[in-house]
This record gives sequence, C-alpha cells and structure tokens, in this order.
Amino acid sequence: DDSFDEECDYLFKSVLVGDSAVGKSNLLSRFARDQFQFDSKPTIGVEFAYKNIRVGDKLIKAQIWDTAGQERFRAITSSYYRGALGALLVYDITRRTTFENLRKWLHELREYGNSDMVIVLVGNKSDLSNSSRQVNIEDGQSLAQVEGLSFLETSAMENLNVEEAFLQMINKIH
Ligand code: GTP
Ligand code: MG
Repeated sequence: DDSFDEECDYLFKSVLVGDSAVGKSNLLSRFARDQFQFDSKPTIGVEFAYKNIRVGDKLIKAQIWDTAGQERFRAITSSYYRGALGALLVYDITRRTTFENLRKWLHELREYGNSDMVIVLVGNKSDLSNSSRQVNIEDGQSLAQVEGLSFLETSAMENLNVEEAFLQMINKIH
C-alpha cells in the first residue's frame, strides 16, 4: 500500500530472461499476484511488476522486468539490463534447447549487465519432471557451479520454489 511505499528503503531492479515459453511471465505473475495462466501469450517487448518485500529490517521495492524470449519481440536490449541488480535466468526442464541456449543468455547478461549482477539459474516446470524431463537436475547444478550462479528448479504452475527463487536473488543483492 501507499504507506509501505513511502517507507521503502530500497528500489531493486531485476530482470527475467530466457527462451520463449519457459515460463518467465508465469513465474512473475505467481510471485507478484499468486496467479497462473495456462494459455498465456508471448510477452511483447517488456512488462513490469512490483513487489514489496521485507528483508530483515529493510523494506525493499522489487521492480521486475519481464522480457520477451522471442527475438522478434525484443528491442533495445541494453535498456533491459541498465541498472539491474539481479536476474532470473530461466530454462524449461522439458525442452533441452532452452538449456543449451543459456550460453547465449549468459553472454548477453554479461555484455549488457552489471559485472556484479546477481544471477539465479531457474529450471522451470518441475511439475512435469516425471513425464517429460529433458534436462537433469545435475546438469542445472553443474552449469550453475561452473558459472558461479545460484540454482533452483521451480514450478510456476504448482507454486514450487517460486518465492524462493526471487528471494534468493533479492537476498544476495547488496
Ligand atoms: P515469452 O513471453 O514468449 O518469453 O514466454 P514466457 O517465458 O513468458 O512463458 P509463459 O510464462 O508465457 O509460459 C509459456 C507456457 O508455459 C504457458 O502455456 C504456461 O501456462 C506454461 N507454463 C509456465 N510455467 C509453467 C510451469 O511451471 N509448469 C507447466 N506445466 N507449465 C508452465
Ligand atoms: Mg512472457
């Protein structure tokens, strides 16, 4: 509410990046509004959400930029990353290509983002683990270790680890 806004100690900008349809918009809507959509449309350009979070005795306003995964809907990429303190780098555990493309996303994050940006690697759609997993949890873990990232598997649909992913990022920003 407004009184909370006035009391906020920090504004943290962060970004969601990764291939199209990995679930970035649904991770954000789950975190910000506790909503999930089965038939969500691809994001065009960029959308925003805010969430107020208490970390210890500080009040933080998280401004989260949800970017388009589809190349044709991406523009002015550098502005996405300007001033961003954190990023959730998302892939889909049921589509191997979204994991293989992480190299490209990491390159972009490092080219345009701040050198001390906190990056959390997120393997989304863990609810489909038994039926259609194409990326082992160990693959996510070892990439995160090599690249020095935090790592979690999430399900926006079942609300598993979603808050944890955002809070890990926010807690590591300082
Ligand atoms: P772009 O905006 O094009 O970059 O895509 P996006 O990464 O924002 O994906 P979006 O959130 O729109 O989700 C794409 C599809 O995956 C939708 O049909 C969602 O319902 C579905 N989806 C998202 N998260 C999950 C999840 O955790 N589990 C399952 N089973 N489906 C999910
Ligand atoms: Mg989207």
